[in-house]
Amino acid sequence: AGLTSDAPGITRFTPVDSPLPRPEEVNPEMLSLALEPEVAAIAAQHQSEVSGTPPERYMVVDIGGGTVDITVHDKSTGRISVLLPPMGNTWGGTTINEALSMLLEEAVDDGGFQSFIESDPIRAIATLNKLFFEEFEERKKRFGNEIEGFSKITLSLPRTFMKHYGSDKLHEASKLHMCYDPGDDSLSIGYNLLEEKIFKSTVDKIIECVRAAFDELTDHIDTVYLVGGFGGCRFVRQKIEEAIAQHCGKLYDNIVCPIYPDLAVVSGAVMWRKDPNIIQSRVADATYGIGCQPEFDPSIHDEHYQYLDEEGYKQRCKNVFKVFVLKGEVLKDEVYKTTLIPPSQSLTQVTIPIYCTGDDGVQYTRDKKGKQTVRKIGELILDVPNPDNIPRDERD
Ligand SMILES: Nc1ncnc2c1ncn2[C@@H]1O[C@H](COP(=O)(O)OP(=O)(O)OP(=O)(O)O)[C@@H](O)[C@H]1O
Ligand SMILES: [Mg+2]
Repeated sequence: AGLTSDAPGITRFTPVDSPLPRPEEVNPEMLSLALEPEVAAIAAQHQSEVSGTPPERYMVVDIGGGTVDITVHDKSTGRISVLLPPMGNTWGGTTINEALSMLLEEAVDDGGFQSFIESDPIRAIATLNKLFFEEFEERKKRFGNEIEGFSKITLSLPRTFMKHYGSDKLHEASKLHMCYDPGDDSLSIGYNLLEEKIFKSTVDKIIECVRAAFDELTDHIDTVYLVGGFGGCRFVRQKIEEAIAQHCGKLYDNIVCPIYPDLAVVSGAVMWRKDPNIIQSRVADATYGIGCQPEFDPSIHDEHYQYLDEEGYKQRCKNVFKVFVLKGEVLKDEVYKTTLIPPSQSLTQVTIPIYCTGDDGVQYTRDKKGKQTVRKIGELILDVPNPDNIPRDERD
């Protein structure tokens, strides 16, 4: 995107005199957007098909760097139906790196490494990013995968970092049960500390979400697929297995993790693109609709929202949330249609807001105090010229 941008500054970073031309072809038919949890399921499913009878109802827990996404599918009809609205949270693998950063902030007693950053912002930030997101990243993965025989990880602290804080500060890190070696400026963190201070809160939040998903289930599921880079690591996997066993009151032995858990999404997306019909139906994750002002109907509308239209002869109802799709409803590939008239005769352009809400039974887009009850996720802006001055009621 950067290379084709019109932004003048971009050429500073690219070896061309002017921005590259935008691609000529704009062909939405060639772009498909896949839903990650769905395609992760397709990939995980595919792998298990190779090794035995495929499960009919299964849960996919995708734990990546940023998010945890949980879905439940039913495949008993031959095609996949999505059973639960997608659930999740933002406790992915990156929070581990952030937790280490916080532990080190505590060790040097400098919240947000503020003084270090102030000393030379650009370099300091680059140094910290390298430490937490490159050097620690490797150690983290090793810890994640090798539980047996693992005792500690060792990080070499960058020179600029040591110069700023001095070794005395780091010696104090032993209070936090980390071990600083002044010989090579390295910091060792033992298994217990890693587990307790760095992994635990993230893993607890992930487990909380998995439990919530189990609580939503109305029927038995036969398999849990664990995908995503963080979900695939042994440590997380083991904790999730334990938690599910505890929650379900028995050992749930059907937790399957594909060989390349971090590639599940991308390989599933390819499989889906080759056969889009593999997903037969979905369940809406929220209620979706538009805002409009229909004619007032005393049998369904609340007087609070009643108003007289601008011509002064029709009672209308404002802030009506016209629902197209209800949360939990099974969706097929459908087109929703409705007819509206411009809210005012002078308008030659109308804006139709598109809203969604996770709540049930929302009838109006604002409550009686005027507070918005739904979330605006987009809008349609339509040109509606009226050269012949057709009356408003006929401008549908
Ligand atoms: N062996 C491992 N141990 C611990 N963490 C790991 C391991 N392997 C990968 N990770 C973590 O998994 C994350 C990457 O997973 P993945 O590639 O699924 O993420 P993503 O799809 O880019 O993120 P998201 O789905 O949240 O947008 C990183 O945070 C990485 O540190
Ligand atoms: Mg992902």
